[in-house]
This record gives sequence, C-alpha cells and structure tokens, in this order.
Amino acid sequence: MKKHHATGHDATLPPAGFKLYGRILSFARGYFLIFFLGVIANALYSGVDATMTYMLKPIVNKGFVARDAHFLLWLPLIIIALVFCRATFNYFSTYFMALVSRSVVMNMRKTIFRHYLKIPAYYYDNNSTGELLSLMLYNVDQVARITSTAIIQVFQAIFLVLGLLVVMLSVSWKLTLIFCVIGPLMAVVIKSSNRHMRRHNHGLQKGMGHVTNIAEESITGYREVRTFGGEPYEINRFDEAVKKNRSRELKIAVLQVVNTSGVQLLGSLALALVIYLATSHASTQISTGSFVALVAAMIALLKPLKQLTNVNNIFQAGFAGAQSIFRFLALETEQDTGTLSPARIQGNIEFDIQSFIYPKTEKVVLRNIRFSVQAGKTCALVGRSGSGKTTLVSLLPRFYELADTSDIKLDGQSVKAFTLSVLREQIAVVSQHVGLFNDTIFHNVAYGVMREKSEAEVIEALKLAHAWEFVEPLPEGIHTLVGENGLLLSGGQRQRLAIARAILKDAPILILDEATSALDNESERLIQKAMDRLMVGRTTIVVAHRLSTIEKADQIMVLDAGELKEQGTHESLLAQGGYYRKLYDMQFQD
Ligand SMILES: Nc1ncnc2c1ncn2[C@@H]1O[C@H](COP(=O)(O)OP(=O)(O)OP(=O)(O)O)[C@@H](O)[C@H]1O
Ligand SMILES: [Mg+2]
Repeated sequence: MKKHHATGHDATLPPAGFKLYGRILSFARGYFLIFFLGVIANALYSGVDATMTYMLKPIVNKGFVARDAHFLLWLPLIIIALVFCRATFNYFSTYFMALVSRSVVMNMRKTIFRHYLKIPAYYYDNNSTGELLSLMLYNVDQVARITSTAIIQVFQAIFLVLGLLVVMLSVSWKLTLIFCVIGPLMAVVIKSSNRHMRRHNHGLQKGMGHVTNIAEESITGYREVRTFGGEPYEINRFDEAVKKNRSRELKIAVLQVVNTSGVQLLGSLALALVIYLATSHASTQISTGSFVALVAAMIALLKPLKQLTNVNNIFQAGFAGAQSIFRFLALETEQDTGTLSPARIQGNIEFDIQSFIYPKTEKVVLRNIRFSVQAGKTCALVGRSGSGKTTLVSLLPRFYELADTSDIKLDGQSVKAFTLSVLREQIAVVSQHVGLFNDTIFHNVAYGVMREKSEAEVIEALKLAHAWEFVEPLPEGIHTLVGENGLLLSGGQRQRLAIARAILKDAPILILDEATSALDNESERLIQKAMDRLMVGRTTIVVAHRLSTIEKADQIMVLDAGELKEQGTHESLLAQGGYYRKLYDMQFQD
C-alpha cells in the first residue's frame, strides 16, 4: 500500500484517466449541453428505480400488514406511472448519449484523417497501412464505447447506488453502515485489476493492427499470393495473429470475471451480515416492510456494482485506444515554415546535397551531389537500381527534409523558403508507381487543385498524352471508373493517364520517374511521344531507363551508390568511355 502512494504509478492512473477522458470529451465540443441532459435523464431513470425499491416498504406495511384500501387503490396507477417515466428517461438518456458518442467518433475520425495527410512521408515508409487504418477504425470505436454505453451504465449505476443508499439510510442507518465498510474494499479489488487490463488492451489493439495488415496485404497482393503459392504462409501468419489476439481477449475476460466475482462476494457478505443483524439483535430490529425494502435494496445494489466492474473493462480498452490515438496525433507534421509564394517560378534548379540519410535509418543514400539545371532544360538521371535516383527527385517537393548542410534552390531560393503548397504547385510528378484513385478517368486526371478544370481541357490533356486513343472507345468515355488503384487499366494506360495529369497541371518543373517495366514497342512509342510533348518548355528531371529519353536530354547525371560519378551529354559521356559507357553497353547493346 505504501509503495502505491510513493511511486505514484497506480495513484496517477485515475487522474490520468479523468484527464484522458476530458481530452476524449473535447471531441464532443458543442454537445456538452446534450451530454448534460443525458446525465440528467440518467439520474432521473435511476431515481425511478430507487423509488420503486423504496415502494416495497409501504406496499408491505400498508398493503399486506395494515391492508390500507385507499393505498391499494392507487398502487397500480403509481406503478404504471413509474414504469412510464422509467421508459421515457431511458429513451432520452440513450438518445442523448448516443448522439454524443457518435459525434466523438465522427470528430476523432476527421482529426485522424487530417493528420494522415500531414505527417511526413517517412511515417508511411515505416508503418503498415493496416496499423494506420486500425487506429481510425478499431481504436476509435473502442473509444466511442466509453462515451456511450459505458458512460450511461456508469451514471445509471452511480445514481442507482446513491438512490439505494438513501433508501437504506432512511430505513435503517445502522445497518447501512455495514455497506460503508465493505464499499472501499470493493474499490481496492477493482483498482488492482485496472493496470493489467489496460496493458492487455494495448496488446489487443496492436494485434488488431497486425490482423488488418495481413488481411490487407493478402487482398491487395492477391496475384502474388496466388501465383507464388503464398496461401499456406499467409494463412499461417493470419491464424497466428488471430490466435494471439484470442489469447489476449481470453486474459481480459478472465481478469474481468475475477474482478466481478470478487466484488459480488464482498456484496453478498454485506447482505448476509445485514440479514443476521436485522433478525437477531434488538438494537437493530426493524419493521417487516423496512426489512423487505432494505434487503431488496441490498440485492438491487449488486446489479449496479456488477455493472460498474464490467464497465471498467470497457473503460480500460477505451483509454488504451485513446492513448494510441493521442500518441499518433502528437506526431509532428511536415514542417511548413516557408513564406515565399510566387505565382510561378521560372524553373532553375540547383542541387547542393552534402549527404542525405532517410529518417530513422543509418545509411548515407546520397553524398556530394552538386549540379544545376537551367530553366526549360532536360536533365536525365541514370544509374543502377538503388543508386539513389528516386531519392534525389523526391527531395525536390520536400517529401523528406534536408539537413542544414544541404539545400536545393529554385530560382536561387531554397526550397525550404517556399510554403509547401506553393512549392508543390510548381512541380508535376509522374512517379515510378503510378497512383490512381477509385474514381472516373476524368477525376483522376483533374485531381486535387485541378478539380475545377473543364472536360474540354481534360480531353485535350488526354490527347496530348496519347491516352485519348484508349479512353474514347470506352463505353462511358472519360467518366469510366478505373477501379481501385486503376487496376482496370493496363500498366501503359495507367502511365499515360499519369502523364495527362501532369500535362493538365502545367507546372514549370516536371519530374519523371520512368517505370523500369518493359512495355511493348507500340505503348513505348506512345508514351515516349507523350513525354516529349510534356517536356516542352519545362525544366525536366527524368529518371531515365529508355535510351531514347537519355539521348535527347540536355545533360546526363550518372549516379552510382549515391554519388555523382560522371556528367555530360550522351555523346560526350560515350566518348569518355567511362562508367556510363559500361552502363550503356550493358543495358542497351544486345
Ligand atoms: N523510404 C525509404 N526509407 C529508407 N531507405 C530507402 C527508402 N527508399 C529508398 N531507400 C534506400 O535508398 C537507396 C536508394 O533508393 P532509390 O529508390 O533512390 O533508388 P533508385 O535509384 O531510384 O532505384 P531504381 O532504379 O530501382 O528505382 C536504396 O538503397 C534504398 O534501399
Ligand atoms: Mg527509383
């Protein structure tokens, strides 16, 4: 017990719980009046229950012992009135509390979703989609339960306990004292299991993220799973994960029942004592009606007590869920302290990178990279797989932060000096893995800030991207849905849509990360033509795998293991007969 207070670990839990609950309820801003009304309705509901218990005293004394005819006449009406009130209060308390909790869920999901869109890229690299999603789906729901069912039960139970205590005190204060001794003992039992409960709940929620993740990977990667015979492995992995969760759930269930039984045992002990004292000692003897009401009240007390211990589990789960949510919401967002916001830059780019390391990793991925690209020119990045080409271009729109010793300048201004939105407005990206949305072709091309573009403009862009050839014959034309991640389209078609999107954006800087996957000659030729069209009048940095792209570039940067190995034009580099020559011979000469 001493340690309890000294370390403060357990002692701080209830206040932390209240503080946490306060933070959870802050998501119910604007609904406090409703919450308050819900609490009142709850109090009234429990008041009716207590009154009904108290009624046993006059029913027995007046009805059965004294046979008061006038009272017996009114009794049925009183009962009906009470039951009617009970139902009404129950309706309002449930409705108001549900309104509050569903609003908490809605607001929490909104906040989490907004945060998804602001956290830095590395967070996505290091956390699985399943974990991120389960936070918003599973955890939020657990939190919701503590603002609805659980809180209703708590209020009902507390008010009922209070009401019943009043009934008992008014019947016999001496006998009621027994309960006051047992009460604190119950509190000790409940508290001791809280910490374990919360720990298991944290494990359970993490486990849910794992389960979601495995399912998600198997669903999105169904082709790989089936063709590589991954079914047994995935099934095994999934079974393990759900089995682990089951064992956590069982532990929680056991803790819960031990908890409840302990409390009930103490309750019945009090009841037995009361019955003994009320019937055998002169100083504590009471009338028949009082005795019936007292015993009924004590029996009635067991229910809210059980409810309170049961609900405790829901609270521990909710708190654990809320803690993870708040930890996620505390993650810092992308730094956006720049102030420059020119309408349109010219497009001169200077790279000055001393070194770059991905957050949370050790390996130096880029080292001593210094070169510039003049506005309107095309710069090709070539190099072996893993040499750092994609990394280099992803630094331009600031997907990753540069160290203070490195910088990239646009028209002589550091990329850090621009506001993020304006900086990204200057850049159109066609990435290695084309990202499409489960929407129409029209909305996939006119996406985001281009949402307001007209149909004619979109069709024009599709034509320039040589995508119109396959879009036009579709039954619903540009209003055809492309399926999740554009899966209803071929790889080449997806790329041409991405190019159309970049054309429509009409940004001064273009980043092309050519797909390494080989396409047939026809698609290859079409994409090439589309890209040529796109590059006109823009500063282009192209991660090039195609000889045709490389040959046309104004300058070629050859990367090897994160370092700039050679630079020049295609001819000069070939003539040099160095690393590029070797690369060229390997890749393009049969
Ligand atoms: N998000 C990331 N977090 C940590 N390390 C990364 C990340 N992305 C890439 N890397 C590492 O950085 C190095 C360079 O990767 P990068 O994707 O830039 O290569 P690349 O030249 O584009 O290769 P490819 O031609 O195959 O696309 C690799 O060693 C890779 O392991
Ligand atoms: Mg790459």
